[in-house]
Amino acid sequence: MSTKALEGIKVLDFTHVQAGPACTQLLGQLGADVIKCEMPGSGDATRDWLRDVEGADSLYFTMFNGNKRAMCLNARTAEGKDILTRLIKQSDVMVENFAPGALDRMGFSWENIQKINPGIVLASVKGYAEGHANESFKVYENVAQCTGGAASTTGFWDGPPTVSGAALGDSNSGMHLCIGILAALQYKNRTGRGQKVNVAMQDSVLNLCRVKLRDQQRLERTGKLDEYPHNELKLPLGDSTPRGGNAGGGGQPGWVLKCKPTSPDDTNNYVYFTVQASAWAKICDMVDKPEWKDDPNYNTFEARRDKFFQVIKYIESKFQDKDKHEVTRWAAEYDIPCGPVNSFKELAHDPSLRKVKTIVEVDHPVRGKYLTIGSPIKFSESEVEITRSPMLGEHSEEVLKSLGYSDAEIAAMVANGTTALYGK
Ligand SMILES: CC(C)(COP(=O)(O)OP(=O)(O)OC[C@H]1O[C@@H](n2cnc3c(N)ncnc32)[C@H](O)[C@@H]1OP(=O)(O)O)[C@@H](O)C(=O)NCCC(=O)NCCS
Repeated sequence: MSTKALEGIKVLDFTHVQAGPACTQLLGQLGADVIKCEMPGSGDATRDWLRDVEGADSLYFTMFNGNKRAMCLNARTAEGKDILTRLIKQSDVMVENFAPGALDRMGFSWENIQKINPGIVLASVKGYAEGHANESFKVYENVAQCTGGAASTTGFWDGPPTVSGAALGDSNSGMHLCIGILAALQYKNRTGRGQKVNVAMQDSVLNLCRVKLRDQQRLERTGKLDEYPHNELKLPLGDSTPRGGNAGGGGQPGWVLKCKPTSPDDTNNYVYFTVQASAWAKICDMVDKPEWKDDPNYNTFEARRDKFFQVIKYIESKFQDKDKHEVTRWAAEYDIPCGPVNSFKELAHDPSLRKVKTIVEVDHPVRGKYLTIGSPIKFSESEVEITRSPMLGEHSEEVLKSLGYSDAEIAAMVANGTTALYGK
């Protein structure tokens, strides 16, 4: 018996770019049968974004579309609408992240989809929530990082708003959508009823910026945010949660501290070091400052607030003869939460990440071996298998036949541009 958690769940994947594909890829990794539908000829635009191997799908596409089958489907033709109808009938979940209204314009409004399959879960990502003043606007990753509050609170106080390297707008929205789908499937198990699940990218970003909204309310109520660097550096706070550089979130102040480089061109020779109140005595022991333990000018969180940079500069001075990995292990001996600023070179080649299958290598018939990120969710029983992304139209024929189309009908649909078959 298969131990895959979502074995037997059929997903109609009408997604593109990143937010939707990240969601359906995770569903596929968890064992669902995901059929990605793409426009014949062109497919998901990301197939050729920043191509690094001539003639092969880009890493953007391959890294967000593993664990899927792929078929070509032009839902603008009458036959295409018939295929989509048959797919909707047999699916537990349909996922899409087209521009607002695109599905309606195709003739597949939620009302129509429910008529075809009342038990289906229709899951969508859009830039803004339904009913929001901007609900009809198109949105990409960094736009959402800006609209959801991440950019205005990331970076340094004397620099511009900054977007994160993490895909807070796209993949994060996809992960929220995945949670919504799993909840809707559970609801369907109980009631037999399908439903529409919508996730807005702005909301998903905002959901990860909860402490920034906390700070906005504290600022409005008290005019102060004592744990921000602004306090010690005598900078104006302004009237909105400011950019705090590398400051911690409150109870566990911290900063990036420079260590010995691991090579002459190492630009990531830092650790993030936390000055957690409960670990103060251990920090004093670690950096050879036992006198700070009982000094009322240092031994409380409040006392250190106006000398945080002085404290961390001193701690940093102790790290100059150790690299970030040595400092991390040294801090761990004292139970102090601290970790290296890992470069992507280090992450890509980290034996531990390979061992725990968080970074995995898969083989692709056109591009050869490539690295992708495995499931960050580990199960005691359920198998998570990571497979390569499909070629455009690789499974068109197989899926169309399973839907009941004959060879002659498939040939006619290839001829009129409703579908396309890989390699034919
Ligand atoms: C991402 C986004 C900005 C891309 O915009 P875009 O490249 O212009 O693509 P669209 O989604 O508008 O799709 C273009 C058209 O192709 C159509 N289309 C795409 N695949 C199709 C297919 N297989 N069959 C028929 N029509 C198809 C869409 O229905 C749409 O039709 P329309 O002209 O009636 O709107 C937009 O899709 C969007 O805002 N999505 C929601 C938010 C989101 O997910 N953003 C992040 C993506 S990582």
